[in-house]
Amino acid sequence: MEDIEILQDIDWDNLTFSLTPARSMYIAEQRDNNAWEPGKLVPFGNVSMSPAAGVLNYGQGVFEGLKAFRTSRDRIVLFRPENNAVRAIDSAERLCIPPVPKEMFVEALLEVVRDNADYIPPCGKGSLYVRPVIWGTGEVLGVKPVQSYTFLVFVSPVGNYFKSSEKCLHLKITNKFHRAAPRGTGGLKAIGNYAASLLPQKLAKKAGFDEVIYLNAANENFVEELGSANLFILKDQTLVTPSLTGSILPGVTRDSVIQISKEILNLEVQEKTVSVDEVLDADEVFCSGTAVTVTSIGKITTDETFRIISGGKIGPFTRRIGEIFSEIRNETVNDQFKWLYPVF
Ligand SMILES: Cc1ncc(COP(=O)(O)O)c(C=O)c1O
Repeated sequence: MEDIEILQDIDWDNLTFSLTPARSMYIAEQRDNNAWEPGKLVPFGNVSMSPAAGVLNYGQGVFEGLKAFRTSRDRIVLFRPENNAVRAIDSAERLCIPPVPKEMFVEALLEVVRDNADYIPPCGKGSLYVRPVIWGTGEVLGVKPVQSYTFLVFVSPVGNYFKSSEKCLHLKITNKFHRAAPRGTGGLKAIGNYAASLLPQKLAKKAGFDEVIYLNAANENFVEELGSANLFILKDQTLVTPSLTGSILPGVTRDSVIQISKEILNLEVQEKTVSVDEVLDADEVFCSGTAVTVTSIGKITTDETFRIISGGKIGPFTRRIGEIFSEIRNETVNDQFKWLYPVF
C-alpha cells in the first residue's frame, strides 16, 4: 500500500465513540422502483428531503454499523463487510425497502473508506466507524412504502465505546420494557428499534446502571440481548448465548465470538434459551457488538436481587476473547477465518 497519511489535527489518544465528521460520504438514489442509480462521493454534510419523507414519518429506514482498521502491517481493512451487506438486505426486505445489492453495498463502503483513509486512527488507537443507512426519502401521507430511496454511507473515527478497556458493566435486567416482539423487527436493524430503546437506557443510566438486558416479550422467561449488543455467559467451560429466535439481532461480532470460541479456544458453544437464573449463576458474562467489541459484565441486578460476576472483574475467558479479536484485527496473528477485507 502507498503510505496513507494520518491527519495531524485529531487527538488520536483521546478518541471517544462520538461523531467526528470526515471528508466525504457516499450517496446513491433509487427512484420509481427502478434499479439503484450509480452512487457518488459528496462532501460530508446535511441532506435535504421532504418533510413527508417515509423515513421521517413512519421510520421506513434501516442502518448498519461496521469498522475499518489500520493494521500492524500497515494495511487498511474492513471487518466482515459482506455480513453487514447481507443483514442490510434482510432488514430492507422486511421494511419494503429495495435492497442494495451486496456488491454495490461493499463497493460503497470501500469508496468511502478509501477517500477518508487519513481519518483512520493509528493501529491500536481506534477505528473508522462506517455507518450505511437506507432511507425511504420519497413523499408519503398514508402509511405505505414510498417511491424513492437513498443509500448513504458516512464514516467517523472512533475510540473505545467505554472510557476504560478495563470497564466492567453493571446491567439491569428489565421487565418494564421489551425491545422486540415475536415476529416483529428485533432481528433486523430497523431504525425504529433504537428510538424505542432510548427511554429504557436513559432510566437505567439515571438509576446507576450502564444498560439494560431485555427479556423475551412473549413470557419474560428468557434473556435476549442489550439495546445494541448480544449477550454471552460462560459456565463450567461452556459458552452459552441466546439462540436467534427472530427477536435478537444476529450480530456479526456474536458470530465471530462463537467461531473463535469453537475453533481457537476449543470450547463447547450452545445457542439456546437462557434463563435469568443461568445468567446470575454464570462464571463470566459479557456482551459483544461492533461498537463495544467484547465487554465484560461484572454486576447484574434484577428487581429482586443482584449478583457480582467473576469478582466484578474481567474474567480470563472474556479477556482472552477480546485479545484474540484485537490480534486478528491488528494482523498480529494470522487471519485464519478470512475476516479482514482489504481496502488498501
Ligand atoms: C440490538 C443489537 N444487538 C446486537 C448488536 C451487535 O451486532 P454486531 O456485532 O453486528 O455489531 C447490535 C449492533 O449492531 C445491535 O444493535
